[in-house]
Amino acid sequence: MSIIIFLVFLLCCTSSVLSTKDDEITLLKIKKQLADPYGLRWWVKGFDYCNRSANVAPDYSGITCTSTGRVESLILQNLDVTKPFPDGICSLTEMDYLEIYKIPGLYGPIPSCFTKLYNLVRLSITYTSLSGAVPDFSGRIKPSNLTFINLSRNQFSGTIPPSFGSLPKLIDLDLSFNRLTGTIPPALLSTSTSLLALANNSLTGEIPKCYGAVNFSVFVVRGNRLNGDPSFLFGKQQTAVNIELANNDFEFDLSNVEFSDNLYGFDLSHNKIYGRIPNSFATAARLWYPNLSFNRLCGELPQGGNMGRFDASVFANNACLCGYPLQPCSNSAPAPAPAPASKPPF
Ligand SMILES: *[C@@H]1O[C@H](CO)[C@@H](O)[C@H](O)[C@H]1NC(C)=O
Ligand SMILES: *[C@@H]1O[C@H](CO)[C@@H](O)[C@H](O)[C@H]1NC(C)=O
Ligand SMILES: *[C@@H]1O[C@H](CO)[C@@H](O)[C@H](O)[C@H]1NC(C)=O
Ligand SMILES: *[C@@H]1O[C@H](CO)[C@@H](O)[C@H](O)[C@H]1NC(C)=O
Ligand SMILES: *[C@@H]1O[C@H](CO)[C@@H](O)[C@H](O)[C@H]1NC(C)=O
Ligand SMILES: *[C@@H]1O[C@H](CO)[C@@H](O)[C@H](O)[C@H]1NC(C)=O
Repeated sequence: MSIIIFLVFLLCCTSSVLSTKDDEITLLKIKKQLADPYGLRWWVKGFDYCNRSANVAPDYSGITCTSTGRVESLILQNLDVTKPFPDGICSLTEMDYLEIYKIPGLYGPIPSCFTKLYNLVRLSITYTSLSGAVPDFSGRIKPSNLTFINLSRNQFSGTIPPSFGSLPKLIDLDLSFNRLTGTIPPALLSTSTSLLALANNSLTGEIPKCYGAVNFSVFVVRGNRLNGDPSFLFGKQQTAVNIELANNDFEFDLSNVEFSDNLYGFDLSHNKIYGRIPNSFATAARLWYPNLSFNRLCGELPQGGNMGRFDASVFANNACLCGYPLQPCSNSAPAPAPAPASKPPF
């Protein structure tokens, strides 16, 4: 009798102890690979890493566990280290959430074993010095439930792997403030409401036309070297609330663009946009934060509707815009096109 109880105990409890121990060894390995940073001082042999209330510290790097004691989420932040990426992280294979935040001394590439983390749902690595290629999830086993990836503010270089497009549930992808080059691959995201942010890289070429069919909520490519005509991102049917295209080489005629009633803000400043400002600019119901400055627009601004919301800086530094809130248009030169010299205004 007591032997059976003992055997049952041995079976149920040693298995959970074993899996717990697996990740304990891994966590201690990660700590060692990071050269024992002060922020992880409570990671010691035998520590109860699944107990959140025991693990709270002011500089909290957090762990949560699955019911079997495997690490389910890991946050490493504000650590004072100068080390490469700890490949121990690749062994936390049950992990669905990984956040690495403000570890500026973390350098070098993300090791290829990283793609073994196929249970990942949310991944955020920001404010580090990690460099090399962004992880490519094109392997046979993919983190197929990955919905959110934020790799902004690191030093990743090379091109954007088209394999992001093979992650069926990916809806938010932020690769801003890196050193990425090349063109934007088509179909990076599926067509449900999504966020794509690629600001401040060195991307070139045109925005793929297929993005006109994605129901974006937010689309941000400001601060690159993109060109062409991305006006298909606008239009009455479009769902985006914010579109940021500033500081590129986009060149197109704005005259017939329609702004949707979903649009809350857009920034087209510092491009080569020409033509006049269409009437839908004044009637788009939710438009509060547009910016058309530093382009080549010309002609009389539409009046009424939203126009009272916008100050002159929204329209500054264009070819020849006029009308409230800019200076009144001169009667002798109605503005739509750079008028062939008519009567001088004196
Ligand atoms: C978790 O840690 C707290 C604080 O140290 C302790 O009071 C509590 O008993 C622990 N819970 C478990 C389940 O071990
Ligand atoms: C993805 O999520 C589904 C539903 O929650 C789950 O059954 C499946 O095991 C998950 N797949 C992976 C690779 O985590
Ligand atoms: C990505 O992380 C950066 C820095 O932590 C943050 O500013 C940005 O809002 C995040 N992006 C998304 C889509 O959450
Ligand atoms: C995109 O949005 C439109 C309009 O809101 C909707 O009719 C369409 O079904 C959406 N498409 C997808 C793939 O979500
Ligand atoms: C982002 O790009 C803009 C314009 O290209 C530049 O003025 C700005 O300094 C950049 N910001 C960072 C943080 O690199
Ligand atoms: C529009 O963009 C210009 C140039 O980036 C900036 O100086 C100005 O403050 C912006 N205006 C508004 C209202 O955002």
